[in-house]
Amino acid sequence: MSQREAPFWDALTAYARVGVVPFHTPGHKLKPGAFARLKAVLGEGFFSLDPSDEIEDLELNHDFEQALARAEQLAAELFGASRSLFLVNGTTGGLHFLLMPTKGPVLIPRFSHQAVYSAMVLSQGRAVYLPAAYDPTWLVPLPPAVGNVEKAVQEVHPEALVITHPTYYGTVSDLDELGKLAKSSGVLLFADEAHGGHFLFSQELPKPALQCGADAVVQSTHKTLGSFTQTSMLHCNDISWFSKVVQARQALQTTSPSLVFLAVLDEVRRELAVQGRKLVGEAVELGRLCQKSLSSLKYVEVLPDHLNADPTKIVFSLRQLGLTGLEVERILRVDYNIQVELSDYYNVLALISLGDTLESVERLVQAVGDLAARRAHLGRRPLPCYTMDFPELPPAVLSLREGFFQDKELIPLEQAVGRISGGFLTPYPPGVPLIVPGEVFTQEIVEYALWCAGIDWSMRGLMAGQNVLALKDNGGLCRTVR
Ligand SMILES: Cc1ncc(COP(=O)(O)O)c(C=O)c1O
Repeated sequence: MSQREAPFWDALTAYARVGVVPFHTPGHKLKPGAFARLKAVLGEGFFSLDPSDEIEDLELNHDFEQALARAEQLAAELFGASRSLFLVNGTTGGLHFLLMPTKGPVLIPRFSHQAVYSAMVLSQGRAVYLPAAYDPTWLVPLPPAVGNVEKAVQEVHPEALVITHPTYYGTVSDLDELGKLAKSSGVLLFADEAHGGHFLFSQELPKPALQCGADAVVQSTHKTLGSFTQTSMLHCNDISWFSKVVQARQALQTTSPSLVFLAVLDEVRRELAVQGRKLVGEAVELGRLCQKSLSSLKYVEVLPDHLNADPTKIVFSLRQLGLTGLEVERILRVDYNIQVELSDYYNVLALISLGDTLESVERLVQAVGDLAARRAHLGRRPLPCYTMDFPELPPAVLSLREGFFQDKELIPLEQAVGRISGGFLTPYPPGVPLIVPGEVFTQEIVEYALWCAGIDWSMRGLMAGQNVLALKDNGGLCRTVR
């Protein structure tokens, strides 16, 4: 098999060409029919590529199962894994498949995506957290330091360690060292590489996790590499774990995955195998140009390289002009028709990918320059600094899974001290939970959450009227836990 082939894409497009009269699902029968507006926007072609996966016809050379197995093997070879899976429920689904089979403690950075937490709800294992640390100047969450992970591994003897590689902001751990540590301690190393699928294609980017000894990684191909939203890949180098992953997939995945999604993954893999280095190389160059141009603007600061290892993630701030990242995001959208990926109190994150052009980058730089100049004209007052430290990890009396499925009630945040949380309470961005199900509200957490609410920092898990979810009767443990 050659990387220049796309067996699944070819099988699906061949089926469409043959023009079979379909007495099978889906109900649209491979054409838009009465759905005129769908036809106008999506065209006939999209429907013809959307049969169900029940069709198998070797004579017509459309055995989808075999074609998919070959396509996934080509992906494994390209990304340097023994086995790969194409995913139709994003990296979220892949993390669920990867972690559901765990039974023992799993070390996860507190700054993990919610998909890692929900995976631990599915698992019989226990999440043990590596506390979040922040860079004091930029307030971006830092990945766990090797020394801290080493200490936790010695104390907890985890079955697996999950690392986010990179974080949303482009920060990375010393994964080579963590790979060695995991190997020598007999711990499985899994990487949430949702934002790192492109690492393979440029020497200027951090090393992909598999090359640092990770046993498995999940990548949002849709985020950095150009496939359709919702499509990701899981790559695994531990064959016995892979068989568990496949069983978890059987339990969790739809029996009708979109064949268009799978075919697009296959074709994107083929194109990347052929010209991924060129395409990603160009994106990296554009990213560097964008960073350089933004840094040269007066009052605009760009996250330095020692914090951001990925030049395609453009993190910048106009705090010298008194603007929060949230305000900059809104102004860019309303006044300049530019939508960035996210913003927080200080920072804005704009993503550059192989879909960008010099023109799109220039639009951003011009808009930020114009905004900075307009704002400076009005007078300059820097943004006040944060005044509160992020609270310590609260005590946990129930596992995440136990806490998640208990009966819950809404209670006022001010009255939550001593109550066991029934939900997540997360200032977002950057998305580090203050508390998760099964943990006990401390005074420090309540005060911090009230402070966040007071400065209008969006808080996932804070309901209308500043209520939070707590376990009814504290899960039968006692009224309050201190
Ligand atoms: C670090 C991280 N992991 C996992 C995910 C989930 O990825 P997906 O949207 O592909 O399910 C995201 C999504 O934003 C993410 O940022």
